[in-house]
Amino acid sequence: MEKKQLHKLLEQMTIEEKIGQLVQLTPNFFEETDGKGEITGPLMEWGMSKRELYNIGSVLGTHTLSQVHQIQAAYLKNNRLGIPLLFMADVIHGYEIIFPIPLALASSWNPELIEEIASISALESVEAGVNVTFSPMADLVRDPRWGRVMESSGEDPYLNSLLTASYVRGYQGDADKLNENFNKIAACVKHFIGYGASEAGRDYNTVDFSDLVLYQDYLPSFEAALKAGAKLVMTSFNTIKGIPASGNQWLLKDVLRNDLNFQGLLISDWAAIAEMIPHGIAVDKKEAALKAVSSSVDMDMMTNCYQSSLKELLKEGKITEDTIDQAVLHVLQLKNDLGLFEDPYRGMKGKQQKTVTFTESIQSKARELAAQSMVLLKNKDLLPLDLKKTVALIGPKATSQDILGAWSWVGKQSQAINLKDALKKEYPDLLTVETDSLTKITANEWETIKRVAAKADIVVLALGESSEESGEAASKATIRLPEAQEQLVKVIKAINPNIVTVLFNGRPLALEEIAENSSSLLEAWFPGTQGGPAIVDILVGKVNPSAKLPMSFPKTTGQVPIYYNHMSTGRPMTQQNKQEKYISKYIDVANEPLYPFGYGLSYTNFIIEDMKLSATQLTENTKIVITVNVKNIGKIVGKEIVQLYLHDISAEIARPVKELKNFKAIILEPNQKQEVKFEITVDDLTYIHSNFKKSADKGFFEVFIGTESRAPKIAEIEYV
Ligand code: NOJ
Repeated sequence: MEKKQLHKLLEQMTIEEKIGQLVQLTPNFFEETDGKGEITGPLMEWGMSKRELYNIGSVLGTHTLSQVHQIQAAYLKNNRLGIPLLFMADVIHGYEIIFPIPLALASSWNPELIEEIASISALESVEAGVNVTFSPMADLVRDPRWGRVMESSGEDPYLNSLLTASYVRGYQGDADKLNENFNKIAACVKHFIGYGASEAGRDYNTVDFSDLVLYQDYLPSFEAALKAGAKLVMTSFNTIKGIPASGNQWLLKDVLRNDLNFQGLLISDWAAIAEMIPHGIAVDKKEAALKAVSSSVDMDMMTNCYQSSLKELLKEGKITEDTIDQAVLHVLQLKNDLGLFEDPYRGMKGKQQKTVTFTESIQSKARELAAQSMVLLKNKDLLPLDLKKTVALIGPKATSQDILGAWSWVGKQSQAINLKDALKKEYPDLLTVETDSLTKITANEWETIKRVAAKADIVVLALGESSEESGEAASKATIRLPEAQEQLVKVIKAINPNIVTVLFNGRPLALEEIAENSSSLLEAWFPGTQGGPAIVDILVGKVNPSAKLPMSFPKTTGQVPIYYNHMSTGRPMTQQNKQEKYISKYIDVANEPLYPFGYGLSYTNFIIEDMKLSATQLTENTKIVITVNVKNIGKIVGKEIVQLYLHDISAEIARPVKELKNFKAIILEPNQKQEVKFEITVDDLTYIHSNFKKSADKGFFEVFIGTESRAPKIAEIEYV
């Protein structure tokens, strides 16, 4: 449809029809009658009429194709102007075929792979009638107590931006061609903004940071998503400068709409508009609606604030019809961009069944990806496993199919392949002891465990959490594994020290004890449907691990928030001064994390040597080319991710001690050496200054190159 026609459509709409378009509800609202034509269920609770229902703009959270079909058909029969509904869902790491959780995907540091899985998710979603996914979550995260770190790409603005854009490209393809590409869906980047900074990691808690932090750390991933063409933005639950995001005019109008030039659909998070009441900035739903609509929030997710108040607000002259029209146009525009006016059954017409299912190629992609996202944290020679040895698999996650992680949309645990079934293929005589609970080991279990551990050459311990222990509303004050699991490692170590621990979890954990007592430690995260086979690929060396942590793992919970790119302080701790008293340190624990950002081992070793700089000075129009040689000095082929960090040592504003600026992945055969080249331009030196403008400071910068964020300083360069 031409844009002109959209305006014509708008002109034909009554005010009730317009307001309806701004409402999003769950599918159960459409089960509205008791069969005798009486209004029941949520419609009754909300005091909504059937007519109002058939004017709403969107439905969220459908689970099947037939559900979408049914709702759309009933809706179109009843909607006066035949405006189709828009279907949205939380397709976060796969629709039914579940890929590793986003934090795991981020560990692959592989934007292309992420784009690929987002495009598989899109295809599967389209066939199930979903038009929009509430993904990617672009929130920067620094506090592993927050359960939603599992949905994120980690603690670094550069990596976060890169991967966020990959998701958007994967879901949408060419953002201007969604009306032709019925194998793509629209992406809703969320949560705007700062949700990841919930105080003390408690979900829905206070957020308070400076504007500088907002611009420097939290905005870049959203900018990247918008640059990649994200069609929607979701507001966050938290306050920014004391005002909840959904009613924050400065944030949404000045920053998002004006500065970032976002012209798409802005949707509130679930009930976030009504939550302005408990936030204490609106006395009732009407005031909340006024604040949200005046801040340019187009769609109200799952409250009746808009439905019940906009007409009255208009009558009272508190808002203009133009404000409503703008919001409605954003909704209609998205429907049009998706080609829904031409085909309300976009991509699903006539199809009874999805064609994208568990095909071999998708399964193998899921397996490849899962293996690429597992981080080898420690290896004292046990891995890869020797196939001739006797292996015992022990622990609460040994046979568990709870390996998909939170937000596994319609994925079923029954379709996941667990570690035992996969490992048994390599070790037909595998000894297994499954323990029933994550938090307790019974006397009987202890007895069997001790007997079996003594019999085996190697013990593979499968430890971790349940999927519900991370994700939304799953914050934790202690990020250790349950005592029983820590004890399991300790007790087994006394019987058999050859322990390979495999971890299933959704957040960085404080693993000091577990790491100390294990010979090898593999972070498998929640690896998805193909989790078991992917872990085994790594354990037996079919895949050489290459993933790197996107978030620091603390030694203890008391260190959090802990992130590599923290600010410089006036009393930094160094190797030389660490015994002194009046410096920035703890007196009971080291400052450093157990495993830093960017860290991850391989079964081979790499060295970086022969560093060369094309120049040591750069100007606005010149660049410095840095080359290093990377050599595989081990015995097997492996992938290394070479990372470049910078530090501005004479800035206007205190800068992070290190900032990731670039990375390159290379695959090297044993003894192979390859040159890796990085270019530094003025762009890499710029940051937001006190005037909120991006520029670079003249002066010196330290350059670090290495295989993790503890990368050594290799040079100093000067911007002149
Ligand atoms: C609330 C969550 O915060 C958000 O991420 C999600 O997309 C919506 N619910 C819809 O399910």
